[in-house]
Amino acid sequence: MIDGKKVLFSGMQATGNLTLGNYLGALKNWVNLSDEYECFYSVVDLHSITVRQDPSELRQRARKLLALYIAAGLDPKKNCIYYQSHVSGHAELAWILNCFTYMGELNRMTQFKDKAAKHADNINAGLFTYPVLMAADILLYQADVVPVGKDQLQHLEITRDIAQRFNAIYGEVFTVPEPFVGKAGAKIMSLQDPAKKMSKSDENANASIYLMDDPDTVIRKFKRAVTDSEAQVKYCEEQPGIRNLIDIYCSCTDKTPEETEKEFDGKGYGEFKLAVGEAVVSVLKPLQERFEDLVKDKAYIDGIIKENADKANYYATKTLRKVQKKVGFPERVR
Ligand code: TYM
Repeated sequence: MIDGKKVLFSGMQATGNLTLGNYLGALKNWVNLSDEYECFYSVVDLHSITVRQDPSELRQRARKLLALYIAAGLDPKKNCIYYQSHVSGHAELAWILNCFTYMGELNRMTQFKDKAAKHADNINAGLFTYPVLMAADILLYQADVVPVGKDQLQHLEITRDIAQRFNAIYGEVFTVPEPFVGKAGAKIMSLQDPAKKMSKSDENANASIYLMDDPDTVIRKFKRAVTDSEAQVKYCEEQPGIRNLIDIYCSCTDKTPEETEKEFDGKGYGEFKLAVGEAVVSVLKPLQERFEDLVKDKAYIDGIIKENADKANYYATKTLRKVQKKVGFPERVR
């Protein structure tokens, strides 16, 4: 609790171009929840270097991502929007939590297996202990709730296990966090292969809608989206392509799948795909406009970076000192 409010933490990596999946699965919910909670939204640059990055590109992307959080509707006066690397407590707590996490647990992480397969030439220890750093992010702020897409639920589960294990030894040190997954949009799939999640790192640009795609590109990608020959807009497992498009449509319009089925009853896929594309454009356009305005204002962004890093450091240090004391590190002499 901070000032009588429950705490929310979430983060995003500044690697690759953000997709509609990132927006609908996470960012949109962040905005909806931001009044109710004391919120910390991090640009998780420590996580990014588990995969090789070009340094200047990473720096640029991180700054853009921070601006995007604001453009999406998060007020940086109320929400703590900051770079993970500006708060050393993340790495310090991660080290301690590493000593309370088992190799067997980390071996079971599906994202590690996927990433290790993708980057076979660079299976580094950071990639393996990635979920521990994520646990540190969350536990450092004593977060009650963590809004994420479905692909992060396994990492939330291990975070809870680590917190409970630590608490069982040392008393109630950490708040055990709950994940928050939105009704629609929690797992947006590739437009070219509805069995695969929409991902920043997909090599086929037609598979993903990027948040900065212009309207023509968005409409074109939806027109090319893989569907089936059933020719009916129905929300069912047998039609994963159409189901994904319905999820996207519902998430952008706040309609339900039933309402959508009715709306497009007897209509062709062409008409439906166009409607989905237009719904997405109407969400992305204002976001892109705000983003373009914001990035021009260097002094404003710099001010936010400084102020919010100080705020995040304050709360992070509070938890870190408590944990350091619990595990037996000598007290600091003032
Ligand atoms: P990242 O950067 O891969 O994704 C950011 C958020 O977007 C969600 N997401 C999706 N949601 C729906 N459909 C999709 N296709 C889709 N793709 C991505 C993710 O679930 C995530 O919520 N490890 C995290 C970042 C992180 C973090 C944290 C998150 C680091 N520390 C602490 C929460 C709490 C990651 O790589 O997300």
